[in-house]
Amino acid sequence: MNKIKKVVIPVAGKGTRFLPITKTISKTLLPIIDIPVIQYLLEEASNAGIKDALIIIGYNQNDVINYFNTESTYVKNLTKDYEEIKYIKKLKQQIRVSYVFQEEAKGLGDAIKHAKAFADDDDFAVILGDDFVFSNGLKTYGIGSLCKYYAKKPNYYLGVKEVLLSETSKYGIVKPEKEITNNFKINDIIEKPQDNPPSNMACVGRYILKNSIFHYLDEIKPGYGGELQLTDAIALALQKEDVYATCFDGVRYDVGSKIGYVEATISVARQREDLKEELSKFLEKLN
Ligand code: G1P
Repeated sequence: MNKIKKVVIPVAGKGTRFLPITKTISKTLLPIIDIPVIQYLLEEASNAGIKDALIIIGYNQNDVINYFNTESTYVKNLTKDYEEIKYIKKLKQQIRVSYVFQEEAKGLGDAIKHAKAFADDDDFAVILGDDFVFSNGLKTYGIGSLCKYYAKKPNYYLGVKEVLLSETSKYGIVKPEKEITNNFKINDIIEKPQDNPPSNMACVGRYILKNSIFHYLDEIKPGYGGELQLTDAIALALQKEDVYATCFDGVRYDVGSKIGYVEATISVARQREDLKEELSKFLEKLN
């Protein structure tokens, strides 16, 4: 069986849509109630059986490293063994976390190039932090769904969801070769098409990339927004290799937007045993 063992999680970037809080706290550490987004992303990867994570951070993001440091003075000074800290320790045993710095935010394509040494000769997964996938009790969700397809046939797989036509200009949009199914072959992909989108199936932050992506990343020039776009490298890949778009399980929230962040928070709270009863009473009162 073909197994994806590595995941790359790029979180560099200034997070200006979430100013002022992102002035001192990395966007990926913003909590869905009390658990930062990045911890959910690692949990998703670990659930998919992935053993190694590379987090790509900017120079101002030591807070991400500090978050996962379970040997810190803060932890040492705690007078009891909190479950929440034990959980982070356990997660780190299941999935090893390492970091690399991206000097400048020059685009997702540039970020992924920083993962070359980490990937070595392997194919790997990518999870983007602006897209939060809520398991809602499912065992396989998000990147796990893509890994299942890869296990059967090692190809490129891009996680997609249907979006409103009016929203296609915000995403990498795929062009299906034939009909759209749960896992369909594509023959083009365009980054943020401003008009004539090839479909309304958008890439939403989950990818399985073959190692050949590094070759294509070296070939591309700055694209949309003057940045090196992963989408452009994938567009080169699909001229020579099979690239599939995969509708994955789990509910996806755009936590890069304020409304998406609020929606994700409420959805998670409604499922949490410690909160759901009181929250539903509160929501009823609001109506
Ligand atoms: C990135 C990708 C885009 C993808 C999106 C998903 O764009 O370039 O293809 O659809 O993530 O969230 P960004 O939102 O970082 O501009």
